[in-house]
Amino acid sequence: MRYARIIGLGKYLPPKVLTNQDLEKIVDTSDEWITTRTGIKTRHIAQDKESTSAIALPAARLALKRAQLSAKDLDAIIVATITPDNQFPSTACYLQHYLKAEKAASLDIAAACAGFIYALVYAQGLIESGIANNILVVGAETLSKLTDWEDRSTCVLFGDGAGAAVLSSGRKKSFLASSLGADGSYGELLILPAGGSRLPTSKKTVKEKMHFIKMKGNELFRLAVRIMVDAAKDALKKANLDSTKIKLLVPHQANIRIINAVATRLKLPSHMVYLNIQRYGNMSSASTAIALCEAYEEELIKKGDIVVLDAFGGGLVWGALVIEWV
Ligand code: ACO
Repeated sequence: MRYARIIGLGKYLPPKVLTNQDLEKIVDTSDEWITTRTGIKTRHIAQDKESTSAIALPAARLALKRAQLSAKDLDAIIVATITPDNQFPSTACYLQHYLKAEKAASLDIAAACAGFIYALVYAQGLIESGIANNILVVGAETLSKLTDWEDRSTCVLFGDGAGAAVLSSGRKKSFLASSLGADGSYGELLILPAGGSRLPTSKKTVKEKMHFIKMKGNELFRLAVRIMVDAAKDALKKANLDSTKIKLLVPHQANIRIINAVATRLKLPSHMVYLNIQRYGNMSSASTAIALCEAYEEELIKKGDIVVLDAFGGGLVWGALVIEWV
């Protein structure tokens, strides 16, 4: 049998940092409100010229270097993003070109905050079925470019960044089980209304700011906790494990109150839950990618550990993945 495993992780954050104090000067908000309601203190913001593929590139290069693999060895590149460089070509194709990954089939996956987990599981399928040997999976977002900087209910939440994982085949099972799902009936809760075939961009859509993220935060909050707990439990059950076996939970970083509620329901103490929301805010698909990379860099993950990735996002979509680190 051949099994998928992660052999290299990378990340990149654009250098510009926006603090809560900076936001106090832009909208009617306060460091106190943002900190207590979300847990966020700072976030990184891409410059005008920094597209999603541009910030994905250094993350991908670092992951390849750590995997000791050349881009020429890649059979596929999957970029999870809801902030692509363009509708088409895909962000993955830009990345393929920059990396000179000559034989890599390349595509984007749009599964919002669960995108990195979706992409890992799809890559697992390609590797374990024998279709591919080496795959680069990236979660990269420039949410700041779709943010209405006059809307205090959303602009304080999001940040930009990219995380990358190189997957290859091995002889020991590492991705023990996963749980992916979707419920499109909740699509309106988190949506970019204009710019697609439903509502093409026009002077009217721009005037009405329909090209910016619209979110019903309250309703999402209530669903998020239940969905993340259910997804994690389902994936653990499929792996014949329970939450007592988890070494580290790496959750999507949307709101510290969501993360704490999920941890409580899974009976996990705070030191077993990875947190970087205070530094980066919600970076959609890049959140779990960067969190996994940083947890590894901080030596919180070692061989034999059970690590659970867990996320939900606009769509709605959700995903949990149980990994035994090999
Ligand atoms: N500063 C100060 N006050 C604010 C701000 C702000 N930045 N934003 C909202 N408020 C006010 C509201 O106007 C409201 O005032 P009112 O009571 O006078 O009407 C009050 O604060 C409470 O607003 P709520 O929306 O009820 O605040 P809540 O505690 O729910 O927190 C938040 C809002 C942080 C958005 C929360 O609901 C949340 O995190 N939701 C989930 C978000 C999420 O997970 N998104 C999905 C993933 S993202 C993805 O897929 C890309």
